[in-house]
Amino acid sequence: MAANPPPPTPPRPSRITVPKFAALKGSGRKISMVTAYDYAFARLVDEAGVEGVLVGDSMSMVVQGHENTLPVTLDEMIYHAEMVGRAVERALVIVDMPFPSYHLGKYKAIDNAGRILKEARCQAVKLEGGAEQAETIAALVSAGIPVMAHCGLRPQSVHQLGGYKVQRDEASLIEDARAAADAGAFAMVLECIPSRIARRITEAAPIPTIGIGAGGDCDGQVLVLHDVLGLTSDYVPRFVKSYADLHATVVGAVRQFRDEVRSGAFPSAEHGYE
Ligand code: KIV
Repeated sequence: MAANPPPPTPPRPSRITVPKFAALKGSGRKISMVTAYDYAFARLVDEAGVEGVLVGDSMSMVVQGHENTLPVTLDEMIYHAEMVGRAVERALVIVDMPFPSYHLGKYKAIDNAGRILKEARCQAVKLEGGAEQAETIAALVSAGIPVMAHCGLRPQSVHQLGGYKVQRDEASLIEDARAAADAGAFAMVLECIPSRIARRITEAAPIPTIGIGAGGDCDGQVLVLHDVLGLTSDYVPRFVKSYADLHATVVGAVRQFRDEVRSGAFPSAEHGYE
């Protein structure tokens, strides 16, 4: 009798490429994006079905424990992007260019972004700025490097902005968004701007807007994974929604382990070998 045929291999999920990501604008499907900084979490968020995974320079704060995003280096971003790139099969992987890896002229920016694309399995870079970065965005795009722009609150400029404040200068926000799109960015993050201005930009922009603290009318939303999972007990801004309380879960689980080690309940016979 013939053996049963092997079960069919499930089809590999098809990759969300940069053009597919950009084409989601106006498709009726909102884009969701979260950050990830390592292999384990990147696999989980990809399995959850988000369209974008951002290796954000927020890593400087939530992974490295710095007070802002300025200290993280290009080598550190690439080291973590490699882990994320190895894990993600379906979502678009975007890597933040850290400060000041794109501020020293367009050729240096191409060199640094080129390293990110060569050394990590990712498809695009993100950089902060609109009008003042237009020349750099255009240079990267002409070198074949897809760029997501980041307008509104730009955390790398925290000292110049005087803190993490809602950005309300409507004329310059609109000018930044227009300049980023004209320079060839395939999408833009809008951080911490009034919902009304984000709606205006979204209606006018030919590329997707991904909001964080920019209201519900953007083409998509992004959050830092540690905030989504409730992993920190630190202050979280008003625009964050936590969908789990992993802080309590993790502390509770480790406390239980500690207690069972102290009492001798762990390891029991079932966790040992004859
Ligand atoms: O670094 C980051 O995590 C970001 C998002 C908050 C957009 O830039």
